[in-house]
Amino acid sequence: MRKILVAGNWKMHGSKAMVSELLEGLLAGSSADGKADLLVFPPFPYLPLTESVLAGTHIRYGGQNLNPNAQGAHTGETSGGMLKDFGCHYALVGHSERRAIYGESDHDVALRFKAALDAGLHPILCVGETLEEREEGQTEAVVARQLDAVIEFVGIESFRKAVIAYEPVWAIGTGLTATPEQAQSVHAFIRDKLTSLNVIIAGQLRILYGGSVNGSNAAELFAQSDIDGGLVGGASLTAEAFLAIYSAID
Ligand code: 13P
Repeated sequence: MRKILVAGNWKMHGSKAMVSELLEGLLAGSSADGKADLLVFPPFPYLPLTESVLAGTHIRYGGQNLNPNAQGAHTGETSGGMLKDFGCHYALVGHSERRAIYGESDHDVALRFKAALDAGLHPILCVGETLEEREEGQTEAVVARQLDAVIEFVGIESFRKAVIAYEPVWAIGTGLTATPEQAQSVHAFIRDKLTSLNVIIAGQLRILYGGSVNGSNAAELFAQSDIDGGLVGGASLTAEAFLAIYSAID
Protein backbone atom coordinates (compact mmCIF):
# COMPACT_ATOMS: atom_id res chain seq x y z
CA MET A 1 0.00 0.00 0.00
CA ARG A 2 1.40 3.36 -1.02
CA LYS A 3 1.01 6.08 1.61
CA ILE A 4 -0.15 9.46 0.30
CA LEU A 5 2.63 12.06 0.15
CA VAL A 6 1.77 15.75 0.24
CA ALA A 7 4.77 17.85 -0.80
CA GLY A 8 4.99 21.64 -0.83
CA ASN A 9 7.29 23.35 -3.32
CA TRP A 10 7.67 26.89 -2.04
CA LYS A 11 9.63 27.96 -5.14
CA MET A 12 11.26 31.41 -4.58
CA HIS A 13 8.95 32.51 -1.78
CA GLY A 14 9.56 33.09 1.89
CA SER A 15 11.24 35.04 4.65
CA LYS A 16 12.56 33.95 8.05
CA ALA A 17 9.32 35.05 9.71
CA MET A 18 7.14 33.31 7.14
CA VAL A 19 9.14 30.06 7.27
CA SER A 20 8.99 29.86 11.09
CA GLU A 21 5.27 30.55 11.17
CA LEU A 22 4.49 28.12 8.36
CA LEU A 23 6.56 25.26 9.78
CA GLU A 24 5.21 25.71 13.31
CA GLY A 25 1.70 25.73 11.87
CA LEU A 26 2.33 22.52 9.92
CA LEU A 27 3.75 20.79 13.00
CA ALA A 28 0.76 21.83 15.09
CA GLY A 29 -1.77 20.69 12.48
CA SER A 30 -0.34 17.29 11.46
CA SER A 31 0.90 14.15 13.12
CA ALA A 32 3.28 11.26 12.58
CA ASP A 33 0.43 8.76 12.41
CA GLY A 34 -1.63 10.85 9.95
CA LYS A 35 -2.92 9.41 6.71
CA ALA A 36 -0.34 11.29 4.65
CA ASP A 37 3.37 12.03 4.79
CA LEU A 38 4.26 15.72 4.70
CA LEU A 39 7.26 17.18 2.92
CA VAL A 40 8.37 20.75 2.19
CA PHE A 41 10.86 22.29 -0.22
CA PRO A 42 12.05 25.65 1.12
CA PRO A 43 14.47 27.88 -0.82
CA PHE A 44 18.10 26.99 0.02
CA PRO A 45 18.79 29.89 2.45
CA TYR A 46 16.00 28.66 4.73
CA LEU A 47 17.29 25.09 5.07
CA PRO A 48 19.18 25.78 8.35
CA LEU A 49 16.03 27.32 9.86
CA THR A 50 13.96 24.43 8.50
CA GLU A 51 16.38 21.95 10.04
CA SER A 52 16.18 23.68 13.41
CA VAL A 53 12.37 23.47 13.42
CA LEU A 54 11.80 20.10 11.75
CA ALA A 55 14.75 17.93 12.87
CA GLY A 56 13.42 14.87 14.68
CA THR A 57 9.79 15.56 13.69
CA HIS A 58 7.51 13.70 11.26
CA ILE A 59 7.80 16.37 8.54
CA ARG A 60 10.52 15.82 5.95
CA TYR A 61 12.13 18.50 3.79
CA GLY A 62 14.34 18.75 0.74
CA GLY A 63 16.09 20.93 -1.82
CA GLN A 64 14.36 22.36 -4.87
CA ASN A 65 17.31 21.48 -7.09
CA LEU A 66 20.93 20.33 -6.85
CA ASN A 67 24.03 20.53 -8.98
CA PRO A 68 25.08 17.32 -10.77
CA ASN A 69 28.58 17.60 -9.29
CA ALA A 70 29.59 16.66 -5.76
CA GLN A 71 31.78 19.75 -5.30
CA GLY A 72 34.06 22.10 -7.21
CA ALA A 73 34.20 25.40 -9.06
CA HIS A 74 30.45 25.92 -9.63
CA THR A 75 29.68 29.40 -8.34
CA GLY A 76 26.16 29.81 -7.07
CA GLU A 77 25.37 26.09 -7.06
CA THR A 78 24.45 23.65 -4.29
CA SER A 79 25.41 19.97 -4.09
CA GLY A 80 23.43 16.98 -2.89
CA GLY A 81 25.95 16.50 -0.08
CA MET A 82 25.22 20.02 1.17
CA LEU A 83 21.48 19.28 1.18
CA LYS A 84 22.16 16.12 3.13
CA ASP A 85 24.33 18.09 5.56
CA PHE A 86 21.26 20.14 6.47
CA GLY A 87 19.10 17.07 7.06
CA CYS A 88 17.33 16.94 3.70
CA HIS A 89 15.83 13.62 2.68
CA TYR A 90 14.61 14.63 -0.80
CA ALA A 91 15.56 16.72 -3.83
CA LEU A 92 13.34 17.90 -6.67
CA VAL A 93 14.80 17.29 -10.11
CA GLY A 94 13.53 18.46 -13.48
CA HIS A 95 10.81 20.82 -12.34
CA SER A 96 9.28 22.39 -15.45
CA GLU A 97 10.48 25.84 -14.33
CA ARG A 98 14.06 24.50 -14.23
CA ARG A 99 13.59 22.97 -17.66
CA ALA A 100 11.86 25.96 -19.29
CA ILE A 101 13.48 28.98 -17.61
CA TYR A 102 16.94 27.62 -16.79
CA GLY A 103 17.39 25.37 -19.81
CA GLU A 104 17.82 22.02 -18.06
CA SER A 105 17.74 19.29 -20.69
CA ASP A 106 16.49 15.74 -20.17
CA HIS A 107 20.13 14.70 -19.77
CA ASP A 108 20.83 17.43 -17.19
CA VAL A 109 17.84 16.13 -15.25
CA ALA A 110 19.21 12.59 -15.40
CA LEU A 111 22.58 13.82 -14.05
CA ARG A 112 20.82 15.57 -11.16
CA PHE A 113 18.70 12.49 -10.43
CA LYS A 114 21.89 10.43 -10.14
CA ALA A 115 23.60 13.10 -8.03
CA ALA A 116 20.67 13.01 -5.60
CA LEU A 117 20.91 9.24 -5.27
CA ASP A 118 24.69 9.39 -4.87
CA ALA A 119 24.22 11.84 -1.98
CA GLY A 120 21.71 9.53 -0.29
CA LEU A 121 18.67 11.63 -1.18
CA HIS A 122 15.34 10.54 -2.66
CA PRO A 123 14.91 12.28 -6.02
CA ILE A 124 11.45 13.51 -7.00
CA LEU A 125 11.52 13.48 -10.78
CA CYS A 126 9.13 16.01 -12.31
CA VAL A 127 7.67 15.36 -15.75
CA GLY A 128 4.86 16.90 -17.74
CA GLU A 129 3.74 18.34 -21.05
CA THR A 130 3.02 21.91 -22.17
CA LEU A 131 -0.43 22.94 -23.39
CA GLU A 132 0.83 22.91 -26.97
CA GLU A 133 2.17 19.39 -26.59
CA ARG A 134 -1.15 18.21 -25.08
CA GLU A 135 -3.13 19.79 -27.89
CA GLU A 136 -0.90 18.04 -30.42
CA GLY A 137 -1.61 14.70 -28.72
CA GLN A 138 2.01 14.45 -27.54
CA THR A 139 1.42 14.08 -23.80
CA GLU A 140 2.46 10.43 -23.49
CA ALA A 141 5.36 10.81 -25.91
CA VAL A 142 6.75 13.78 -23.95
CA VAL A 143 6.38 12.07 -20.57
CA ALA A 144 7.92 8.86 -21.96
CA ARG A 145 10.89 10.81 -23.35
CA GLN A 146 11.46 12.59 -20.02
CA LEU A 147 11.30 9.28 -18.14
CA ASP A 148 13.44 7.36 -20.61
CA ALA A 149 16.27 9.89 -20.36
CA VAL A 150 16.56 9.09 -16.66
CA ILE A 151 15.82 5.36 -16.80
CA GLU A 152 18.44 4.83 -19.52
CA PHE A 153 21.02 6.75 -17.50
CA VAL A 154 20.50 5.31 -14.01
CA GLY A 155 18.54 2.08 -14.60
CA ILE A 156 15.11 1.09 -13.32
CA GLU A 157 16.56 -0.20 -10.02
CA SER A 158 17.35 3.39 -9.07
CA PHE A 159 13.65 4.19 -9.01
CA ARG A 160 13.32 2.14 -5.82
CA LYS A 161 14.26 5.29 -3.89
CA ALA A 162 12.53 7.79 -6.17
CA VAL A 163 9.20 9.55 -6.47
CA ILE A 164 7.73 10.82 -9.73
CA ALA A 165 5.66 13.99 -9.97
CA TYR A 166 3.43 14.45 -13.00
CA GLU A 167 2.95 18.18 -13.42
CA PRO A 168 1.24 19.27 -16.62
CA VAL A 169 2.85 22.64 -17.34
CA TRP A 170 -0.48 24.21 -18.31
CA ALA A 171 -1.88 23.43 -14.85
CA ILE A 172 0.98 25.00 -12.86
CA GLY A 173 0.06 28.27 -11.18
CA THR A 174 -2.87 28.77 -13.53
CA GLY A 175 -5.79 27.54 -11.42
CA LEU A 176 -6.46 25.10 -14.30
CA THR A 177 -6.24 21.71 -12.59
CA ALA A 178 -6.15 18.59 -14.74
CA THR A 179 -9.38 16.68 -14.20
CA PRO A 180 -8.97 13.58 -12.02
CA GLU A 181 -9.52 11.49 -15.17
CA GLN A 182 -6.88 13.38 -17.18
CA ALA A 183 -4.36 13.06 -14.36
CA GLN A 184 -5.17 9.40 -13.64
CA SER A 185 -4.73 8.54 -17.31
CA VAL A 186 -1.16 9.90 -17.38
CA HIS A 187 -0.33 8.40 -13.97
CA ALA A 188 -1.50 4.99 -15.21
CA PHE A 189 0.62 5.44 -18.34
CA ILE A 190 3.68 6.17 -16.17
CA ARG A 191 3.05 3.20 -13.87
CA ASP A 192 2.42 0.84 -16.82
CA LYS A 193 5.67 1.96 -18.41
CA LEU A 194 7.62 1.23 -15.23
CA THR A 195 5.71 -2.02 -14.69
CA SER A 196 7.05 -3.30 -18.00
CA LEU A 197 10.55 -2.87 -16.53
CA ASN A 198 10.04 -3.91 -12.90
CA VAL A 199 6.66 -4.84 -11.45
CA ILE A 200 7.68 -4.48 -7.81
CA ILE A 201 9.30 -1.09 -8.16
CA ALA A 202 6.39 0.22 -10.24
CA GLY A 203 3.91 -1.00 -7.64
CA GLN A 204 5.73 0.66 -4.76
CA LEU A 205 6.64 3.95 -6.44
CA ARG A 206 4.65 7.03 -5.44
CA ILE A 207 3.46 9.17 -8.34
CA LEU A 208 2.36 12.66 -7.28
CA TYR A 209 0.15 15.03 -9.24
CA GLY A 210 1.08 18.71 -9.38
CA GLY A 211 -0.72 21.70 -10.89
CA SER A 212 -3.14 23.94 -8.97
CA VAL A 213 -3.82 21.38 -6.23
CA ASN A 214 -5.82 22.88 -3.35
CA GLY A 215 -8.03 21.86 -0.45
CA SER A 216 -11.08 21.66 -2.70
CA ASN A 217 -9.74 19.38 -5.45
CA ALA A 218 -7.20 17.25 -3.54
CA ALA A 219 -9.58 14.56 -2.27
CA GLU A 220 -10.89 13.69 -5.71
CA LEU A 221 -7.43 13.71 -7.28
CA PHE A 222 -5.86 11.57 -4.53
CA ALA A 223 -8.75 9.08 -4.73
CA GLN A 224 -7.57 8.00 -8.19
CA SER A 225 -5.88 4.62 -8.12
CA ASP A 226 -2.50 5.78 -9.47
CA ILE A 227 -2.33 9.19 -7.80
CA ASP A 228 -0.35 8.91 -4.56
CA GLY A 229 -0.37 12.51 -3.42
CA GLY A 230 0.46 15.97 -4.63
CA LEU A 231 3.29 18.37 -5.35
CA VAL A 232 1.78 21.71 -4.37
CA GLY A 233 2.98 25.21 -5.21
CA GLY A 234 0.78 28.17 -4.30
CA ALA A 235 -1.36 26.33 -1.77
CA SER A 236 1.72 25.23 0.19
CA LEU A 237 2.64 28.77 1.24
CA THR A 238 0.34 29.02 4.25
CA ALA A 239 -0.23 26.35 6.89
CA GLU A 240 -3.98 26.77 6.52
CA ALA A 241 -4.03 26.11 2.76
CA PHE A 242 -1.50 23.27 2.92
CA LEU A 243 -3.22 21.57 5.85
CA ALA A 244 -6.53 21.79 3.99
CA ILE A 245 -4.96 19.44 1.42
CA TYR A 246 -3.48 17.17 4.12
CA SER A 247 -6.87 17.01 5.86
CA ALA A 248 -8.77 16.28 2.65
CA ILE A 249 -7.39 12.73 2.60
CA ASP A 250 -9.64 10.06 3.97
P1 13P B 1 0.86 25.29 -8.23
O1 13P B 1 0.32 24.38 -7.18
O2 13P B 1 1.04 26.71 -7.77
O3 13P B 1 0.11 25.17 -9.53
O4 13P B 1 2.38 24.79 -8.55
C1 13P B 1 2.58 23.45 -8.84
C2 13P B 1 4.04 23.20 -8.88
O5 13P B 1 4.73 23.63 -9.78
C3 13P B 1 4.64 22.42 -7.78
O6 13P B 1 5.94 22.04 -8.08
